[in-house]
Amino acid sequence: MENKNILVIGGNSGIGEKIVKRLSDKGANIYASNRNGFSSLPSGMHIQEVDVTADEFTLNLPDELHGLVYCPGSINLKPFDRIKLETYVEDMNINFYGAVKVLQQALPVMRKTGDASVVGFSTVAVNTGLPFHASVASAKGALEGLFRSLAAEYAPKVRFNIIAPSLTDTPMAKGLLGSDRKKEASAERHPLKAVGEADQMAAMAQLLLSDEGSWISGQTMHIDGGMSNLKP
Ligand SMILES: NC(=O)c1ccc[n+]([C@@H]2O[C@H](COP(=O)([O-])OP(=O)(O)OC[C@H]3O[C@@H](n4cnc5c(N)ncnc54)[C@H](OP(=O)(O)O)[C@@H]3O)[C@@H](O)[C@H]2O)c1
Repeated sequence: MENKNILVIGGNSGIGEKIVKRLSDKGANIYASNRNGFSSLPSGMHIQEVDVTADEFTLNLPDELHGLVYCPGSINLKPFDRIKLETYVEDMNINFYGAVKVLQQALPVMRKTGDASVVGFSTVAVNTGLPFHASVASAKGALEGLFRSLAAEYAPKVRFNIIAPSLTDTPMAKGLLGSDRKKEASAERHPLKAVGEADQMAAMAQLLLSDEGSWISGQTMHIDGGMSNLKP
């Protein structure tokens, strides 16, 4: 990671914050963008306030870009008959169209740079049908399709991979994990009897961005405590 330029969209919270910490510890130059400020992030980062749901924004990009991580997302859980159309639009805006807008700006630089890697975040609920996930699973499914298509189109210059977490202890999940009782019940639902930690997702992102991940593209990595594939 030494001296690699990595753009992290959503680097001030949860999984993105852990990614920023890991990559800067390894000597990467971090370009971090999100809506609100950064409280306790490593010094020397290039910071830009950006809302990816805005109609237009211009990212400050370096001349060479070796990695991009797209973290913005949502957890809107409701029965299908209570999901308004505008919720689907909101979920598509943050999870999918925001990523498209970022990629439209970043990919020309990444293709020119070569040996570049893009990491995005889906959810366990795309591979495994879970009640109340219709809106977010649809938006993340669109993102998975986009990434797999681009992985083919941009090979071998740019690799694209997705991490699909199950419930992970971050600010986004506080409504679902906000008490010990909720956390224990959620842990119990997973074959590995734990909820995810942000740094477990960051470790996978680090691998996918690094030279060690240079033969991985077009994949969805299911980091989910066994939720998507096991029935013990
Ligand atoms: N946590 C889970 O249980 C879980 C489960 C499955 C999938 N995921 C996925 O994992 C990814 C990371 O989630 P997390 O739990 O780490 O979430 P988080 O703690 O809420 O972090 C989200 C990050 O995205 C940024 N962001 C949000 N809206 C933005 C916007 N409109 N423009 C620019 N930046 C924006 C936030 O910064 P600002 O607020 O400052 O903009 C923040 O840095 C998401 O895509 C999520 O869907 C999470």
